[in-house]
Amino acid sequence: MLDTKSIKKDFPILINNPNLTYLDSAASSLKPACVINKIKEYYEEYGVNVHRGVYGLSYKATDEYEETREVVAKFLNAKAEEIVFTKGATSALNLVAASYGMANINEGDEIIVSELEHHSSVMPWQEIVKIKKAKLVFVPLDSEGRITVENFKKVLTSKTKVVALTYVSNVMGYVSPIKEIIELAHVVNATVIVDAAQAAPHLKIDVKELNADFLAFSAHKMLGPSGLGVLYGKYKLLNSMNPIEFGGDMNDYVEKYDSTFKDAPYKFEAGTPLISEVIAFKEAIYYLEKIGMDNIHTHEQKLMNLAMAGLKEIDGITVYNKTCETGVISFNINGIHPHDAATIFDQNNVALRAGHHCAQLITSWLGCVGTLRASFYLYNDAHDVEVFINSVKQAAEYFKEWNI
Ligand code: ALA
Repeated sequence: MLDTKSIKKDFPILINNPNLTYLDSAASSLKPACVINKIKEYYEEYGVNVHRGVYGLSYKATDEYEETREVVAKFLNAKAEEIVFTKGATSALNLVAASYGMANINEGDEIIVSELEHHSSVMPWQEIVKIKKAKLVFVPLDSEGRITVENFKKVLTSKTKVVALTYVSNVMGYVSPIKEIIELAHVVNATVIVDAAQAAPHLKIDVKELNADFLAFSAHKMLGPSGLGVLYGKYKLLNSMNPIEFGGDMNDYVEKYDSTFKDAPYKFEAGTPLISEVIAFKEAIYYLEKIGMDNIHTHEQKLMNLAMAGLKEIDGITVYNKTCETGVISFNINGIHPHDAATIFDQNNVALRAGHHCAQLITSWLGCVGTLRASFYLYNDAHDVEVFINSVKQAAEYFKEWNI
């Protein structure tokens, strides 16, 4: 297990809320002091615009901003020019659909998605399909709700042009066999877009080893600032794409009736970017790397297995994910709407998420309106699990007493 006693001290929010049991990191993680301090440093010491100023402070801000691009690239085993900063994983996934999808999808083409997708990984393609008269094809999930290689092979055809799949499900925590899927997709020359929003905070990602064409994630789920996302794209693909936002700093020459653009990644970062957020994000990555992604993953798995064992002892609970793979456990108290159950957790200062988690296709597949979702991260410990299990017991008892 990680040294959570010392880790907890790095998170001011845990110091300011000593009774908080935070189990909602899949929605947004807490931020360590090093990230918060870096934002403060930027505003207090060199808080000016980047890429524009011809003076010392702007050079300093630009260097700090571009250094994060290098750090993110190294984190993914990519090149700096393959990293685009966006307004979140949602923006990154929309950018690929609106630019790459609009240019490359034609009538009759097929786009493979799944019912495990977050809305941001499927909805942009629904729009492309409508415009282009193409077709969305769903990988059938196995009986436990997983994407499998075997089922992927059943839907992959010569018509498949794009595969847009989640690396880790935000409801089930299942890790998709994404490397094998990418390999198969490339045989038919399909382009693969990986939604790594729930993978990047927990797993070591090597885009070269995966051979992913595009991969997107958010900073705020991995100790970084909110409002910031990353799009990785293979440079040739990225640079062949048209921007979808036009304006300051992404252009080369602007004439009356036409303009030229900078090369990727800059052509995708129109306007003043998320400067403090980008600058501070590298501190989050340093922090994660100092602890080690493998150690973080092992730690979470131990906590989840402990929680799963506790849940199995309680009558009247349905747990939806069959194994504890990454970060989350989804469950319900039988017969109780997750939002009603969540009030009991709130009374005990246990923060977890209740609802469809922006992934309505999987809650429909599971046959429920939503779930309660406990998500674990590096600052959680066995005591958090104990408080969580006691709250589940209390909630189950409460609703049984009221015979609801
Ligand atoms: N997509 C985020 C979640 O799973 C917000 O909670």
